[in-house]
Amino acid sequence: MTFADVFDGPLSGRRTLRPQCHNFSGGPGALASSVLEEAAGAVRLFEDTGDSILGLSHRSGRFKAMVDGTEAALLALIGAPPGYRVLFLQGGGSLQFSMIPMHLLRGASGSAEYIASGYWSAKAIPEAAHEGRVRVLWSGEKDGFRRTPRRDELEPSKDAAYLHYVSNETVEGLRFPYVPGHDDVPRVCDMSSDFLSEPFDLSRYDLVYAHAQKNLGPAGVTVVILRDWILERGAELPAVLRYRTHADHGSIFNTPPVFAIYVASLDEGRQRREGGAPLRSARRASGRVRASRRDLEPLADERVVPAPQQDAGARVDRERGARGLPRHRRSSQPGRAAGVAIQRGDARVGKRPLRISEGMAPLTFR
Ligand SMILES: Cc1ncc(COP(=O)(O)O)c(C=O)c1O
Repeated sequence: MTFADVFDGPLSGRRTLRPQCHNFSGGPGALASSVLEEAAGAVRLFEDTGDSILGLSHRSGRFKAMVDGTEAALLALIGAPPGYRVLFLQGGGSLQFSMIPMHLLRGASGSAEYIASGYWSAKAIPEAAHEGRVRVLWSGEKDGFRRTPRRDELEPSKDAAYLHYVSNETVEGLRFPYVPGHDDVPRVCDMSSDFLSEPFDLSRYDLVYAHAQKNLGPAGVTVVILRDWILERGAELPAVLRYRTHADHGSIFNTPPVFAIYVASLDEGRQRREGGAPLRSARRASGRVRASRRDLEPLADERVVPAPQQDAGARVDRERGARGLPRHRRSSQPGRAAGVAIQRGDARVGKRPLRISEGMAPLTFR
């Protein structure tokens, strides 16, 4: 394939990038069409560089300005008080399961306290146990993770190294309705699946982390927001695992995921223009997302994609558990004609949480 084949052939001309169905499956969330359009354009030609965004040097001033600008804009979008840094890291939410106890539990006198409310918090606990003592404050495991604990079921101690919880358990679809723990014990939260979906008071947290792919961009970059004092910890750690290293280098210590950060910066800009989380949650409450769980649950039995004349091929790979299911179905139900994709249920729990991501276009079929 020649250069001309690529740039004058399949990629030339106007292609519709608007997703053709609403995808409620797990995994990466939908990105807004405006973000997809701009990112797609930048893959071919990024601003006035004469080059693709994929060729942008991570050592360039332009990329540094993009990272610094996105850090500042994210802090403003959240309404962060002074004393916080944003780091753009790799390794996903999973690496944070280890980096957090490496910094906050190693050598500490108190235990780290964890709330085991679902699949992902249960994954975080053994990683912390490599670094020190862990006390599980509450576990929903024996009941199959069906609910979050009531406040009166938790007895967090005042001298814990930190308290960790997952604000929204992605697999089970369980959302914490309150902020657990004492305000004077470092509070750490995995917000991977609900980051930026609603306003939250950052001042109550010492560290918040979220991989980008649910609500802020593509997979490949993870946002860690932490208080300055945490940067003083972990001096004995390998450089690449130390928060301080990444803070000192403005998240450009080694080669960062330039494209993922670029798309996150576009999406942050879109969210800011749209009024950020406060406006979105108000809009959601007023019915922007008009499909309710009751509407969607009957559709969850099968994967439903748009009518056969539309090419659904590209999406099939993105949907866990979608292989082997019929690729196209017609139905008299208006929701199906509008195009809805839902995975068959999460094999790990046998349930079907319906994910509604922030970039998803408004649903109008009801
Ligand atoms: C709440 C939560 N935490 C952590 C993870 C793990 O993230 P990653 O796959 O980016 O390592 C996930 C993955 O979906 C998640 O939903």
